Amino acid sequence: MIVMGIESSCDETGVGIVRWHEDGTCELLADEVASSVDQHARYGGVVPEVASRAHLEAIVPTMRRALAQAGIAKPDALAVTIGPGLAGALLVGAAAAKAYAAAWDVPFYALNHLGGHVAVDTLEHGPMPPCVALLVSGGHTHLLHVEDLARPIVELGTTVDDAAGEAFDKVARLLGLGFPGGPALDAAAQEGDPRAIAFPRGMTGPRDARNDFSFSGLKTAVARFVESKERAGEPLPIPDIAASFQEAVADVLTMKAVRAATDVGVDTLVLGGGATANSRIRSLAEERCAAAGLTLRIPKPRLCTDNGVMIAALGAHVIAGGATPSPLTVATDPGLSV
Ligand code: KG4
Ligand code: ZN
Repeated sequence: MIVMGIESSCDETGVGIVRWHEDGTCELLADEVASSVDQHARYGGVVPEVASRAHLEAIVPTMRRALAQAGIAKPDALAVTIGPGLAGALLVGAAAAKAYAAAWDVPFYALNHLGGHVAVDTLEHGPMPPCVALLVSGGHTHLLHVEDLARPIVELGTTVDDAAGEAFDKVARLLGLGFPGGPALDAAAQEGDPRAIAFPRGMTGPRDARNDFSFSGLKTAVARFVESKERAGEPLPIPDIAASFQEAVADVLTMKAVRAATDVGVDTLVLGGGATANSRIRSLAEERCAAAGLTLRIPKPRLCTDNGVMIAALGAHVIAGGATPSPLTVATDPGLSV
């Protein structure tokens, strides 16, 4: 069975194609992504209208490139992200998927973007055991419990305000590091001392929700620190701010993720989303998983960011699990929960 996955929930137009094998593995046949990230840079964040327009221009050429890469005329099934994500952006991918499913006469599956971030790891590391997944990107921060990729996923917690990647981007902007700021902030942090400034760890108090996150207080603390330095006419210690901020984010994310895996009783923690490229989130996750006796699975960066392969991989698992196809009338849902 060959499945095409279409992803357009944010600023990447992704089309991936995988072949499902009966042993529960997926083989990558095509991975095409057209990103509009450069068009958003001057606004300091993703502009939904610009993203929708870019998807519209990119979707058909990206599908054609993926088919050519896989060397097929059409897949056996089509899967698409219907949420969560940007309303207009989601509509473009869903409309294309529905139109092609009808024209090709192949079954159509409407999927949740978040499950895709977990399923994509099977391409690199094989069948997925029951796990907890920590998803961190510019758009989401979620702790999920995944028993079986073919079955509904349970959300353990999420952010109550900013996404982790969004916090990286906002702090990078405060420090004048550009957009998307995560990679630049990570680079600046390499030269800094993570213990230089004691930034707050949001939602880690005894009364706070165990599996939820908050990053807006941390972002404000960085802004206050920057203001105080500017008022005093002192130079900004950018590497120390970056390292201390990054440490605060990585500390909370990995502490809560490892604790959730232990609470739920699984042996595996999976990371996904673009912000898992962060060097400190990775190293601290490795350290803490080793200490807790957990297996850590992190897909390579190319598969961590949004792409179509993740939706194709989730589609393959869902189809193999016996799911009925979705009706072509299914609506996109920007606020879709897991
Ligand atoms: O998954 P992704 O490509 O797109 C979505 O947001 O859905 O993730 C991009 C996010 C951005 O916020 C970016 O700043 C962040 O991931 N990011 C990083 C790093 N690389 C990417 N954040 C921190 N450190 C990094 N090395
Ligand atoms: Zn994503």
